[in-house]
Amino acid sequence: MLKKLKKKKRANLLAVTLTSTLLLSGLTFDIASAQSQNPTTVTHAQTSAVQTSTPFLTDASSIDSVIQAMTLEEKSKFVVGVGMPGFGGTPPFSDVVGAVGGTYGIPRLGIPELRFADGPAGLRIRATRTGETQTYYATAFPIATSLASTWDPATVEAIGKAQGNEVKEYGVDMLLAPALNIQRNPLNGRNFEYYSEDPLIAGKMAAAMVNGLQSNGIGATIKHFAANNQETNRMSVDTVVSERALREIYLKGFEIAVKESHPWSVMSSYNKINGTYTSQSADLLTTVLRKDWGYNGFVMTDWFGGNDPVEQMKAQNDMIMPGSTAQSDLIKTAVSSGRLDEKVLDRNIKNILQILIQTPEFKKYQNTNKPDLAAHAVTARKAAAEGMVLLKNDKMPLPISKDQKITLFGNTQIETVKGGTGSGDVNAAYTVSIADGLKSAGYQLNQTEFGDYKSYIDNLRSQDQYKIKPSPWGEDFGKSIPAIPEKPLTDTEISNASTDSDIGIIVIGRNSGEGADRKVVKGDYLLSDTEQDMISKVSAEYHKQGKKVAVILNIGGPIEVASWRDKVDSILLAWQPGQEAGYAVADVISGKVNPSGKLATTFPVKYEDVASANSFPGTPANNPTQVVYNEDIYVGYRYNTTFNVKPAYEFGYGLSYTDFDISHLNISEGKKFKDTLKVSAMVENTGKLPGKEVVQVYVSAPDGKLEKPAVELKAFDKTKELKPNQRQLLQFELNAKDLASFDEKQNAWILEKGTYSVKVGASSEDIRDTATFTVDQDMIVEKVNEALAPKVEFERLTK
Ligand code: BGC
Repeated sequence: MLKKLKKKKRANLLAVTLTSTLLLSGLTFDIASAQSQNPTTVTHAQTSAVQTSTPFLTDASSIDSVIQAMTLEEKSKFVVGVGMPGFGGTPPFSDVVGAVGGTYGIPRLGIPELRFADGPAGLRIRATRTGETQTYYATAFPIATSLASTWDPATVEAIGKAQGNEVKEYGVDMLLAPALNIQRNPLNGRNFEYYSEDPLIAGKMAAAMVNGLQSNGIGATIKHFAANNQETNRMSVDTVVSERALREIYLKGFEIAVKESHPWSVMSSYNKINGTYTSQSADLLTTVLRKDWGYNGFVMTDWFGGNDPVEQMKAQNDMIMPGSTAQSDLIKTAVSSGRLDEKVLDRNIKNILQILIQTPEFKKYQNTNKPDLAAHAVTARKAAAEGMVLLKNDKMPLPISKDQKITLFGNTQIETVKGGTGSGDVNAAYTVSIADGLKSAGYQLNQTEFGDYKSYIDNLRSQDQYKIKPSPWGEDFGKSIPAIPEKPLTDTEISNASTDSDIGIIVIGRNSGEGADRKVVKGDYLLSDTEQDMISKVSAEYHKQGKKVAVILNIGGPIEVASWRDKVDSILLAWQPGQEAGYAVADVISGKVNPSGKLATTFPVKYEDVASANSFPGTPANNPTQVVYNEDIYVGYRYNTTFNVKPAYEFGYGLSYTDFDISHLNISEGKKFKDTLKVSAMVENTGKLPGKEVVQVYVSAPDGKLEKPAVELKAFDKTKELKPNQRQLLQFELNAKDLASFDEKQNAWILEKGTYSVKVGASSEDIRDTATFTVDQDMIVEKVNEALAPKVEFERLTK
């Protein structure tokens, strides 16, 4: 019944031609004649009748004959999406309002239309529809950076499973997530959508997410492939990067995700790599992705990405999104004129159809529009707490017992940030604020101070400049919440609060999103003067009375911490924890959950300490056309550890309410490497509370022909919850590829001879045990195809 209605709605839509210039957060897209291309309606009865005489898509074996039966017109429309609702025209698919992409259906051949929707922190569709009482809220899960901080793929897979259920039940075929670009620089406005500065973490987390999502029978899309590490001029900037840095850092996570989870789709990115748009790069999309890695799904462009549909087809960027009539016309003409071989189109169509036959739409799944949001909220809350990182806890002010009265400071206690903005936003039913979360956990909050904050915020929000409005990209993209200045505190106010409560908690919040990078200015990467003041004065007053002060960071990426962290007693990095934010914060603050999160991104002492500080976001500074990755392979902790640049909080760092010993490092096969290395280490809870610990396995490889970073993460695992005195043996296996480096001269992963150290620890700087092994002779571990070589000379950081 529902399905019939859906089909009818789709068919009734008019084709609309639009020529528009879209302004996306300062960026201009020209969309010439973007047009919806819905096919003429054919009922199922009619299609069944056609089936007897015309090939009909039934399963994999029918694909070739269906492609043969397609006209050139149909082929050129099928590889181009049907346009994007809200961007100037009538939505071509009102059945899933807020979906950003759809494919062209060919009912006479049994090819249905598919629906694609964002995104990384939860399904992004519109929550309400005109004339309907039913709502379509989706769960806002913790942001990817927070999920990565769990260092627990099982938690991430559980999120994927829950999120994928929403995708399926709301009638969407493919999710445009996860996103796993490397957090090259802390200022990238979209870092919150990404996992880590390290490709192993990024790849493992993305694979877990894809496996969870796809267990529902819907598709995942890993994005943005590749080296899209900034928002500034993202649609045109040329990333100049070495083949080694590509293979070891920027492509590695994608390689892991492709091999370990088989995502149905890969989204090429906006930027160029070494002179060529990624969506037009056969090197990237054919040679590396398919030949080297064996990928067999399909590739779609990012929205309005690239500039030549024919080159996109040739490169094996199978589908152009969101798509326009102009693009399909160009493709058709190119085939007619001989510029494009029709066989190329056939190949790309086959790539898509092989996935299409697995979709809910093809399988005629009757979606309920009723996912189990209550159950998913529980999953989101658990993961949010699991991803929180305890940065500081001098003399254990945390956890806080319920009989202690708390004063909350900071606007974000009320306006808690669930996640970032843009396509990675989620239209969730609610966000539990930190204040509400603590209240509902049974804490007594200082009501006077809370009331002051409430009226301050309500007052500002009623003023025009601070009014909360739909996103400038349309209400499907969530809300635009202009940042309001931090409420200034008077001395009397602080003094009263410190007398009236047992502990002060200061909440610092930040938000960022698609379309813009963050800046090293006060109020963004740096604390504002009011925030600095709040921290100094509140700490001084509470300390005068022998009371403690904690800071909760409700942020999506690193901020400056070194100038103020010594003033406070505890710092809990809550990240942007999704809609259950306040509950999850309360779980950790109360000790119901013992924090076990670890940083998957470095917090530098100062921005200048970041390896890419000088080159981000490219040159010329006022309008970058090129960004040169001079730091080469030395991204994040690889830079800090190799060049002895001390961070504020290092990669892998995170405290617990208990203590752990990591010892008994054992490596197999004696001292010589053969094919695999078995590593094990014992973890013991030596503290007083139950808790979990992450064991990180780093390797220091010898410099040979290729120089190596001081340490590289090669494996990790998290214990189960260990009771005091309880132990757990964790075991790891490393193969030659895991230990190899990429040699550009030979186009190969090589393992160089020499002495290697295996280091197990609780962070990249907190190594607890080391063992060594040797490799007797140089080995070529894997040959790959030559691809993506830089076309210009540039300086590369070396030791
Ligand atoms: C973003 C993608 C997103 C797409 C559709 C683009 O602007 O870069 O991540 O999936 O829009 O919303």
